Amino acid sequence: MRNLADLPNLKSKTVIVRCDLNVPLDGSRITDDGRVIASLPTLKYLLAEGAKVIVISHLGRPDGEAVAKYSLEPVAARLGEVLGTAVAFAGDTVGPLAKAAVANLSDSEVLVLENLRFNKGETSKEASERLAFASELAGFGDLFVSDGFGVVHRKQASVYELAGLLPSAAGLLIEAELKVLKRLTKNPERPYVVVLGGSKVSDKLGVIDHLLPHVNQLLVGGGMVFTFLAALGYKVGASLLEVDQIDRVKGYLKRAEELGVEVVLPTDIVVASKFGADADVKVTGSDLIEGTPFGASGLGLDIGPVSALHFAEVIRKAKTVFWNGPMGVFEIDAFANGTKQVALALSEVDGLSVVGGGDSAAAVRILGFTDDQFSHISTGGGASLEYLEGKEMPGLEVLK
Ligand code: 3PG
Repeated sequence: MRNLADLPNLKSKTVIVRCDLNVPLDGSRITDDGRVIASLPTLKYLLAEGAKVIVISHLGRPDGEAVAKYSLEPVAARLGEVLGTAVAFAGDTVGPLAKAAVANLSDSEVLVLENLRFNKGETSKEASERLAFASELAGFGDLFVSDGFGVVHRKQASVYELAGLLPSAAGLLIEAELKVLKRLTKNPERPYVVVLGGSKVSDKLGVIDHLLPHVNQLLVGGGMVFTFLAALGYKVGASLLEVDQIDRVKGYLKRAEELGVEVVLPTDIVVASKFGADADVKVTGSDLIEGTPFGASGLGLDIGPVSALHFAEVIRKAKTVFWNGPMGVFEIDAFANGTKQVALALSEVDGLSVVGGGDSAAAVRILGFTDDQFSHISTGGGASLEYLEGKEMPGLEVLK
């Protein structure tokens, strides 16, 4: 894969950098700026080389419309703060504001363009529409650096087509992410434990399928666990359930047994009367079948305390751990314990500990952990999962 060192002399060149600045926002307040921080090494490198830097990114899924709450303006402001230099912002992506701002850009200055996804061409299913939009972007620069690891699994104009229109290379974030993810797929040190959570089991089946032959233990929590429990015959009240996935889950459980992989499921669950901080909360007995307080309307919102300790014990003994997806609704205190215990155990692993992006990355930071407590916090939720699934990633293929 081409990297920054393969680019010609950068002095006074205009370099378009595709970052993934898709950060969680509460109004205009960024609740986790991990992706902004992660984009700094490449930007600093380019600025030190005297390049004119144009940063492009998406935020949310505005679907081709300019939606004010998805503006990148607050993110550009945060980038300026952490970069320690003024960062200009253009209120459109390829329109007159962007054109004027690009024309004003000097060496070692940074300009952020408005959300790429305000333009239909960015995410269009039609290759010709994506190419037309990518050509407009390409008109702004001499070179392209792809550094939005979180989005390399998407075949979108700024990720795929743009890289084919300008001399291009992978940035330092993409290189760093791949270095770690390769360690998870090529001879990982054992025991190798994978922890999966989050709400949708259907999002995780591909990765389970691909990883099963390679891991020693698979720990499952979060909303997706209820489909596993239902596959084993437990009643799960009104908890999240993907009925159409039960048979597939049964198949994976059987395959795990054949492969000698231990699938560790919670034996107790925190059950709430409703979704919210003011719900009545109970914990099931440690045998889920007997005396379960799920009833018809109970909602399982976290793994129980006994399970959390057991998960933590398994994780601490591992030499390689990959974790994607919270164990419960960690944003509410009453349902945060499972995620906290998993994060704590991961931070104590004597080996490689990887937090796989998205919600789990936000969770560890919101729960007060710091990045240096783990070997690596990926910036790509979906991207790291697809990488581990062995899928082809358009945004990486195009850089080869
Ligand atoms: C992510 O948050 O996983 C990336 O920014 C990609 O966003 P998307 O799922 O909306 O394409």
